[in-house]
Amino acid sequence: MPDSRRHDDTVTPGDAGRGAWKSKLGFILAASGSAIGLGNLVFFASNAYQFGGGAFYFPYLIALFVLGLPVMVLEFATGTMTRRSLPMALRRLVGARGEYVGWWSLSSALFITMYYITILGWALCMMVGALGGLFAPGATAPFTPFESPSEGPNATAYFFGLIVTYWPLLAVVTVWAATVWALSRGTETIERVVRVCVPLMWLFMIVLIIRGVTLPGGVDGVLFLFTPAVDGILDVSVWKGAFSQMFFSLSLGLGTMTAYASYLPKNADHVNNSLLVSFMNCGFEYLAGIAIFAMLFAFSLNPVGGTLSLSFFVIPQGIAAFPFWVKAFGFMFFLLVVLAGLTSAISLVEGMTSALVDKLRVSRAKALAMVATPGVIGSVMTALPFVVDPDLGGNGTFGLNLLDILDHWAFGYSLLTVGFLECLLLGWVLGASRLRAAINEHSKFQLGAWFDVQIKFVVPALLLTVIVLNLWTDLSNAFSGAAYGATYPLAWANWLPTVVPVVWLGGTLIVAYVFTNRPTPDEPEGVAVATKF
Ligand code: TRP
Repeated sequence: MPDSRRHDDTVTPGDAGRGAWKSKLGFILAASGSAIGLGNLVFFASNAYQFGGGAFYFPYLIALFVLGLPVMVLEFATGTMTRRSLPMALRRLVGARGEYVGWWSLSSALFITMYYITILGWALCMMVGALGGLFAPGATAPFTPFESPSEGPNATAYFFGLIVTYWPLLAVVTVWAATVWALSRGTETIERVVRVCVPLMWLFMIVLIIRGVTLPGGVDGVLFLFTPAVDGILDVSVWKGAFSQMFFSLSLGLGTMTAYASYLPKNADHVNNSLLVSFMNCGFEYLAGIAIFAMLFAFSLNPVGGTLSLSFFVIPQGIAAFPFWVKAFGFMFFLLVVLAGLTSAISLVEGMTSALVDKLRVSRAKALAMVATPGVIGSVMTALPFVVDPDLGGNGTFGLNLLDILDHWAFGYSLLTVGFLECLLLGWVLGASRLRAAINEHSKFQLGAWFDVQIKFVVPALLLTVIVLNLWTDLSNAFSGAAYGATYPLAWANWLPTVVPVVWLGGTLIVAYVFTNRPTPDEPEGVAVATKF
């Protein structure tokens, strides 16, 4: 019979050499660096815009308290209590079912990392471009509206002109190399990187905000972002958008926060850590929103189309109209995107790497190679420049189409599904009150019985509702013949919307099955909750 009440101080073979944060600051910088990323700079603004500015931030704030904070506390506690990354942590807390969920989550994380790094690669190219062609006239791209050279700077033409070249492939490999380097010595190298990158991000953000709101008309954008719009608040899709955005922004559901928390000392205060990290993240997000909306209004820009358009086309277009230092501001904006995205990519890859170290007991270098090899291939694929859609009715290139479809499935379902399953397993199988007792033991702020209700009922019910609504929309589109995605002139490209979800779902389920069924010889079995009851 496994020992079900092992005390928390027991050192098990897998604990040795996992690494530890040098200080609480190191952890907070790393976790907030993970949370603050493309989600804050690229996706938040476009979601907020799409859902009508003021209609978005209210549901978003509710999502923070109702969903985000409790799940973050849960993910932190899971890591620290077991000193393991997500799959093995869940195995130790709730058994093999938990491990299965953990591997499914991490294999989805791999897909998300693939295209996350591609977007970062494009941002890197735009950063270099800011010093040259981005702010110069004459941009062209092999798509219907951009064949003849632009008269002034045209960020959209520049972007499409860029993604039909092979340069982004080089950029993507560079970003992967930087990520792997940052993880080469685990917490030690991560801490070194975040100590430089995270403060710089805040500094650049403050500069951009000051520039944004001092532009004539900029304040109107800020008002748009913060004026509540009642009709929008009654719209279900706004709430769906806010919940998904909150999960992504706080880096929940993909094992990241559990991995980072597994390097904390046992007496870490998770309520306090979660409050710090989530407030920093959402604070940064609103600041980014202010800067971006100020620019949008100051230059009466009208973002059309996809998620990337706001930060990749609209912001540079706004910056091009600055009265001075155009190149410097443009460079700084994309450097900000790159730094923020890099510290998030690092955390995504660390979640997977540490899980492999925990499970297979391989060296960090080997685990990194196991993640980076498929990762680089996937990133290269989502950066491939072949034109499949010359009329630009959809996304233009093969890579961007692939990215968009992958994002739709992997992002649209995995985070929320994992959050849902985590709540069920930890709330019901382990027991929310046991978990709460363990958390409260080291927390200044004592979680009350409401936490149990949240974890067992409220959060899973809300997440399930969003998942079912999304599935309903997708399936009814599929059955009505309106498959997700556009119709491309190239026949084989029309298979993408069908092939991608099958590969994603099939691949992740197989990986989860194979890993869960592989034994880890010296891993202790049984529950390892660090508390006295
Ligand atoms: N939160 C990051 C962002 O806003 C992205 C990210 C990193 C992430 N790790 C994650 C998202 C884990 C979901 C899950 O860009």
